[in-house]
Amino acid sequence: MSKPNKHESKHESKRGSKRCVEAQCLPILQHKATLTKLVKDNVFLVVTGETGSGKTTQLPQYLFEAGLWKGGIIGITQPRRVAAITVAQRVSQEMHFTLGKEVGYQVRFDDCTSQATVVKYMTDGCLLREILADPGLSQYSVVILDEAHERSLNTDILLGLLKKTLLQADKGSKDGSVRQRVVVMSATLETDKLSTFLGHCPVFTIPGRTFPVTSRFGNAIGPKEVDSSRYVNEVVRVALDVHVSEVAGDILVFLTGQSEIEKACDMLYEKAESIDYRYDVQDQTVEGLLILPLYGSMPTDQQRQIFQAPPSGIRKCVVATNIAATSLTINGIKYIVDSGFVKQLNHNSRVGMDILEVVPISKSEAQQRAGRAGRTSAGKCFRIYSNEFWEKCMLDYTVPEIQRASLTSVVLTLKCLGVHDVIRFPYLDHPEERLLLEALKQLYQFDAIDRRGQVTQLGRLIMEFPLHPGLTRALLKAASYGCEEILLPLAAMLSVENIFIRPGHPEKQKEADKKHRNLAAQSGGMNDFATLLSVFQWCKASDSPSAWCKENWIHWRALKSAFSIETQLREILLRLQQKKDFPVETFTGNKSELFRRCLCTGYFTNVARRSIGKIFSTMDGHGTAVHVHPSSSLFDQEAELDWVIFHDMMVTSRVYLRTVCPIRYDWVKDLLPKLHEVDAYELSNIAREEVNEEELAKLESKEAKRQKEGLDEDTAKKLEKR
Ligand code: CDP
Ligand code: MG
Repeated sequence: MSKPNKHESKHESKRGSKRCVEAQCLPILQHKATLTKLVKDNVFLVVTGETGSGKTTQLPQYLFEAGLWKGGIIGITQPRRVAAITVAQRVSQEMHFTLGKEVGYQVRFDDCTSQATVVKYMTDGCLLREILADPGLSQYSVVILDEAHERSLNTDILLGLLKKTLLQADKGSKDGSVRQRVVVMSATLETDKLSTFLGHCPVFTIPGRTFPVTSRFGNAIGPKEVDSSRYVNEVVRVALDVHVSEVAGDILVFLTGQSEIEKACDMLYEKAESIDYRYDVQDQTVEGLLILPLYGSMPTDQQRQIFQAPPSGIRKCVVATNIAATSLTINGIKYIVDSGFVKQLNHNSRVGMDILEVVPISKSEAQQRAGRAGRTSAGKCFRIYSNEFWEKCMLDYTVPEIQRASLTSVVLTLKCLGVHDVIRFPYLDHPEERLLLEALKQLYQFDAIDRRGQVTQLGRLIMEFPLHPGLTRALLKAASYGCEEILLPLAAMLSVENIFIRPGHPEKQKEADKKHRNLAAQSGGMNDFATLLSVFQWCKASDSPSAWCKENWIHWRALKSAFSIETQLREILLRLQQKKDFPVETFTGNKSELFRRCLCTGYFTNVARRSIGKIFSTMDGHGTAVHVHPSSSLFDQEAELDWVIFHDMMVTSRVYLRTVCPIRYDWVKDLLPKLHEVDAYELSNIAREEVNEEELAKLESKEAKRQKEGLDEDTAKKLEKR
């Protein structure tokens, strides 16, 4: 049994050469010339092939070799930030470049590119932000939208935007030469639909080599079971069973998130210790188990280990989120243990907010997971759920994010890009009108758009920050008073994963809880936002921040990211403050209230009032009954509370408020009417009419000009084209 060992740099060069050999036998290689030519000759191209065939890592290299970078950057988007980072690392190694030079990556709050970068991996969210500054993406010669089958919200929007701009540009180009190209890559599925959407562009399929995978259902999860402790225990049991009874080959376990994965790894580690390899295991060549977690917010040097072959005789067991389903391919996997669940951001109409929920995966997703076992030889997939669960609880296909998540940021992006009619935008799959209306309404509530659906000055400022619009609004409010110092660290803290460590061991858990309670008390108590702010400040001011974190059971890595994010947010703010129209106000109230009052301007949509006992009721018109989450410093103090604002909600059998702060009704009373004042239909109708109005205005002015200049229609058109 061996523990994950630290990354050993002396093995680096050996691995490097082995990798190049690997790249030479990837299925994509035989099609290098064809693919390169297809990309060169077409504005749009769809490329599909089994996961692991080499699309993400190889195609950009082919295009680089073909010299396409001379006309601009070769950009590749990924829905997941980890994928963008690890793939860029891998490709820079394969090409023998230093990461951040010719090959780089950019994800939110982490830019590892330079002037020299010509192959750039990035999240789809980053490219969407770039479009705002440069709608024609003039820096790029090729944009590759990767993992299109995932149907992430941002990729879907990019598809629509690029279709709009490039199809227009293509029609305009007389000599037929192609200046910019878009390649859409997808695992399999829906390629016809993509091609039709993109003006019937060519589709290239990389013929795959896959081996049969036999799948077996279990009986631990039936249609009535959705208890996470249960499936964690069961995947651990099944994984160990595979380890002792199946022939050599690595195991990939699918769970839904970090805490669950860490728990499963602890359990696996503990149980595997008692295995006696002389008697217990069937395959005598198997001498140990290497357990590795894999989730999005993991440090990248640990992630790199996942791809390394285990020492001989050792079986590798990777416990991963859905990230291992298509974004990352791990070689050597022969067995899959599938929990049947995934964590998904869904718009919850009960509470009117986006909530991260654990939901059953779709059948196509389950097949994709199983397929990971058959890349290099025949494999087996162990599903812990029953056949009945498959039939009754799993959809055929995953619903695209655009049809289930809040569209607030996206609608604001579109509006800033001049797409006013967000209802008739070319969507690959149209979002429900209800979600669009909700987004318009929220933007109106935040004063990001006006009653005519036009982006306001505040809306443009909000757009500059890669944060939730409400949080940005609070930050801008504080900045207008010249008090950004209090909101910048908070915004950074709310942008990182949970900072509080909760150890599994009961004794240690008590100790950690006590420390956390102390921190809350020292920061003034009864205000989770203020606790976050204080933790940031104390840690930053301490002589040894990492030791301070250890002492207080705080994730040092998360704090480190928060420090860096704060700097970046500060830079954005400084730039905006230099503009002369940046709002400036004077604060007349009580200074000690300032922090909470600023928060109210962004969080008034998240207000709840205590109704009876410990039950609160939200004020957004949904009137949901909610409780304060036990992790909050306000828990058990509910009797003293009346009105509160909160950062987010957690939905289990109850709805819980997390990161909570008490407020006074006075502070929100002028804002609350805005929650009910406008009918979303009104906004959308205006949004629709406005296009016509605007176009009309344009046409009218053109017509007036023509008449004034006494030109005939044809001449006027010709002149306009020039
Ligand atoms: O994009 P697609 O799924 O077609 O394949 P890919 O991601 O380009 O993967 C090609 C090969 O590179 C696979 O064998 C992966 O295991 C390997 N790879 C790796 O070893 N390390 C990475 N960070 C990324 C890919
Ligand atoms: Mg890929």
